[in-house]
This record gives sequence, structure tokens and C-alpha cells, in this order.
Amino acid sequence: MLDRLDQQAPDALLALIKLHDADPRADKIDLGVGVYKTADGATPVFAAIKGAEQRLVDSQNSKSYLGPEGDMGFVRALEPHVFGEERPGDGRLDGMQTPGGTGAVRLALALAKKADVTRVFMGVPSWPNHAQILADVGLQAVAFEHATSDGAANMAALREVLANAGQGDALLLHGCCHNPTGVDYTPAEWDEIAGLLADSPVLPVIDLAYQGLGDGMDEDAYGLRAVAARVPELLVAYSCDKNFGLYRDRVGAFWVQSASAEVTARAISNAAALARANWSMPPDHGGAAVRVVLKDAGLTQQWQDELKSMRERIGAVRAKLAASSNAGGVDLTPLGRQKGMFAMLPVDKDQVQRLRDDHGVYMAGSGRINVAGLTEANVEQFVAALADVTG
Ligand code: LMR
Repeated sequence: MLDRLDQQAPDALLALIKLHDADPRADKIDLGVGVYKTADGATPVFAAIKGAEQRLVDSQNSKSYLGPEGDMGFVRALEPHVFGEERPGDGRLDGMQTPGGTGAVRLALALAKKADVTRVFMGVPSWPNHAQILADVGLQAVAFEHATSDGAANMAALREVLANAGQGDALLLHGCCHNPTGVDYTPAEWDEIAGLLADSPVLPVIDLAYQGLGDGMDEDAYGLRAVAARVPELLVAYSCDKNFGLYRDRVGAFWVQSASAEVTARAISNAAALARANWSMPPDHGGAAVRVVLKDAGLTQQWQDELKSMRERIGAVRAKLAASSNAGGVDLTPLGRQKGMFAMLPVDKDQVQRLRDDHGVYMAGSGRINVAGLTEANVEQFVAALADVTG
């Protein structure tokens, strides 16, 4: 039986981790997977998380099962940070813990499928795993262009989608720090999107995986909150893997908002059944650490300060890149306007390969770079490499 399986290529993005690790060059630059790095190129555990973990070690007296919903104390502690103080408190909004943002996206799309969604409109380029999950869940992905050639969000394409989509359709949006383009909707554009969705039967699914790494926790939730305030139904996939630095601990959450507490409870019961059949329950440790941080004012402040310094460093690297006038055939000025960890460079696969082979610069084959992989010290080295392969 098993000899009928075709060999699958390793995930192209995750494969970069091993390729970069195996490269002996001391001045190699890792701009591959979306992991935050300090100016020294490290990805340390947040001090706030270390503090929370210490408390867990001292106080946790059982690791017995919780349930498919995971740690609801974690979910409840996160809600004001994600949805703000205006969120419905009448049972129309409810959530559960998931294994990372990927688990949350998987759950949202599997639930959408169970609720008879057949097509999902998705701005492209997008996070490659979105398309993989859609295919795996058995939903049809319908692509539209996310950004215009001058680096703004393509509102005309989105308006057309919403004018033509209908019952049985969903729209998958990045809440902030668009992966891979860094091109986010402005608050005014989100207001328009929220209004269009309010008048449409299309089910919005918002993936918020980088909250706090763009302009701030509240600023980065503007779109989600604007949509939530206007639409009856909404699915949200959330990741704490970046904004709490918990990558391998897999910390995510999923929320449903509907028009009634009764419908939300039914939707959550379906999500719990899907979770049980997929992973039974999410890993506990990272979510518990986030709960401890968010329930303690001192640790929360420490976490917010750490997140702010990450955001500011990303902003400083973006500004330095945008100010470079010597990047060969590449205009880096749009990077100064974009948000979050990612940007797309107009380089082809051969140029990406040459950057790797000749300069030790690792980036996705699509031309996506993780801006947070650069330091103020190696921006110039990177820009010179870019000039070499594109000039
Ligand atoms: C990325 O896009 O690099 C991250 O979201 C990591 C991942 O799982 O792909």
C-alpha cells in the first residue's frame, strides 16, 4: 500500500532553516522563516515568558488533560488584547486554544467547510500554508491580487470580489503585517471593508498572526475590530508564536463570532469536535505561560516593553533599507511604508539562488525576506549582495 505514495518535496520555507544552519560562512544572513531576531541575530525567550515559566514550575501541580478547547484562562486573558473592550460579552463571541496559528487557520477553514462554505477568496501572494491548508481541507481557493504594483493594497480587486461573491463564499484576510508583502490595509480601507462585508453574505476569516509587530497591539487589531463591529459572523485565527516568541511551543487561538450566543455555542461544539479528531487538545505549556503573563500587571508590562523594542527594531531596519540608494535594480523605498516582518523583493528564483550561493543570503524562493533577520550592521552587506545579483 505505502509504496503507492509519491515522494513530497520538503516544505520550501521550513527547509531553509536546515540549509542556513548547515552553511559554514560566518557572515551568512538568514531572511527565511518568519522568526524575530535581535540585533545580535539571536531569538531569545522573552524575559516575561521566562518569568511566567518560573512561576509555572513553582505552582503547577498537574499536567492532566484539559479538553479540546485547551486553557480557557489563556483564551479569556487574550480576548481584551485582541478584540478590545467593545467586544460582545453576551456569548456571541467565544473561542478556544489551538496548536499555533496554523492549527487556528486549519480549524477556521475546516469549520467553514462544515458550514457549507465551498470557495475561499484569498489575496495573493499569501502565506504559502494558506493554500496548502485550503487544498487539504477541500476548499476551493479563489485568488485575487492583494497589492498593486505601486505597493498599496489593491482595494479595487477586493471590491470586485465582494461585489461578485455570495452565499457559500468566505474571504480570508490578514489582520495585520501582511505575510509576505507587508502591505496592510489602512484604517480607512478597513472601515470600507467592514461596511462591504456587513452588506454581504460572505463569511470573513481573519488571520492575525503578528499583532504588535506592526504599529502596536491596538493599532494592529484595528481591522479585526472594525470588521467584528459590523458583521454578524466572523472567524478569527490567532497566533502568539511571534508576539510572545513561543514559536515551537505552538500557541494559537481561534474565535467564532455569530449573531446569537446559541449559534456561537453550536459552532464552538463543532470546532471542539474537529479539534478532537485532529489533535485532541492543544499543547499546554506555552498557552499557560501567556496566561500567567497576561494575568500579572508586571509581567504584562514587561512583555509589552519587549514587544515594543522588537517593533522598533524592525522599523529601524525597514527605514535603513528604504534609505538605501544602492540596491542595484531594486527600489527598496516601499519597505519604509510596509508593516511587520515581511517584504517581497522583485527578484527571480535564479537571483534568490545566487544570493544564497554567492553571498550566504537565505530567503524564500518567492522573493520574500524576513526583515527581522537583518541587523543595522549587516543591512549594507545585504544591499550590496542584492545589487550584485540585480545590478
Ligand atoms: C513564516 O511565514 O515564515 C512563518 O509564519 C512560519 C511558518 O510557519 O511558515
